[in-house]
Parts: sequence; C-alpha cells; structure tokens
Amino acid sequence: MDDFRTLISAASLQQRIRELALEIGASYPDEPPCTVAVIEGARTFASHLTRHLDPWRTVHEIRARSYGDGTVSSGSVQIVGGDDIEAAGRQVLLVEDIVDTGRTVAKLREHFLARGATDFAVATLLTKPARRVVDVELAFVGFEIPDEFVIGFGMDLDGRYRELDRIAIYDEEVAAAAGE
Ligand code: IMP
Repeated sequence: MDDFRTLISAASLQQRIRELALEIGASYPDEPPCTVAVIEGARTFASHLTRHLDPWRTVHEIRARSYGDGTVSSGSVQIVGGDDIEAAGRQVLLVEDIVDTGRTVAKLREHFLARGATDFAVATLLTKPARRVVDVELAFVGFEIPDEFVIGFGMDLDGRYRELDRIAIYDEEVAAAAGE
C-alpha cells in the first residue's frame, strides 16, 4: 500500500457508483443512451457504472487531451478518435472521471451536438468546482472534491497510479519518499 492520503475509500466509491447507476438508469427508462467514456481516465468508472446497468452493453470511447505532462492544464482540448460513434438522433451520455476546468466537457458537448445528438448529459465521478473556467452542466456527480490533484480509480499522473482502488491525493513528497 502506498502512503498517499485517501480522499475517497474503495468502499465509498462502490457505494456511490451503485447509487449513481440507479439514478442514471431511471433517467433513461426507454432505451440506453449512446454512452461515451472519456479515456483513459474514465474507463474504470464507466465499467463499474455499467455493471449495475444491465441492458447497457456498449460503452464507446473517445480520447481528449487537455493535460500535457504534470498537473497543469494546457488550456486547449484536442479530441482524438470516436469517429465510429453514431450520435446523430441519439441522446449522448458522457462518462468522465473528473471535471476540472470544464473545458473537456464543453468541447465534447460541442462535438456531439454538432454531430446531431439530440441531448448531451454528463456523468462524472468527481468534480472540482473551485477550478472551473467554463460553466458546464453536470447531470450526475459522484463526489465534489477540493482543489487537489487526485490519483487512482483510473486517474493518473503521467500514466501512473491508475490502478489504485481508491481516490488519493497526490503528494510529491510522498512520491519522492517512495523513490518514485
Ligand atoms: P478539464 O478539461 O480541465 O475539466 O479536465 C478534465 C481532465 O483533466 C480529466 O478528464 C482528467 O483527465 C484531467 N484531470 C483534471 N484534474 C485531475 C486530477 O486531479 N487528477 C487526474 N486527472 C485530472
């Protein structure tokens, strides 16, 4: 076990995701929306979420790059892939790991509405309201967190720590002490 401080335990994550799945399922009573996970980060959340949503077999994936290296946003968002996602005439549910400045969600909203989606909603595991630059509507939120850089449950720092089963606060001193 690493020494990073736990912000949200594995058990709390599992419980909240179950609740969110119920809420989300009830919001789409007729047919599942076109569900799109923003990878890599949201893949873990999306797979846990859809485990509780029986008829939701397909989760599409799209990549958005907003961070270069480290913990500071570059400001511009580039969308990569997702060309196979047929959003026209469908409701899109975007699954995100964390909404920080809001730029990624805003860009993806534009992207899917321009492709003819009839509706665009966001399910995010975490939100950091203190960092918001662009105002975005979040239909389903797991946890509101303070302005800290977090790792685990799919979230990384330069490709590391995704495999942690909890959300922890990244701390350079802890990483250095562990020789990382
Ligand atoms: P936004 O466009 O600024 O809202 O950034 C969204 C993306 O930034 C997320 O999908 C994450 O990939 C990344 N990000 C923002 N904050 C964190 C964090 O605390 N830990 C890990 N990734 C983060």
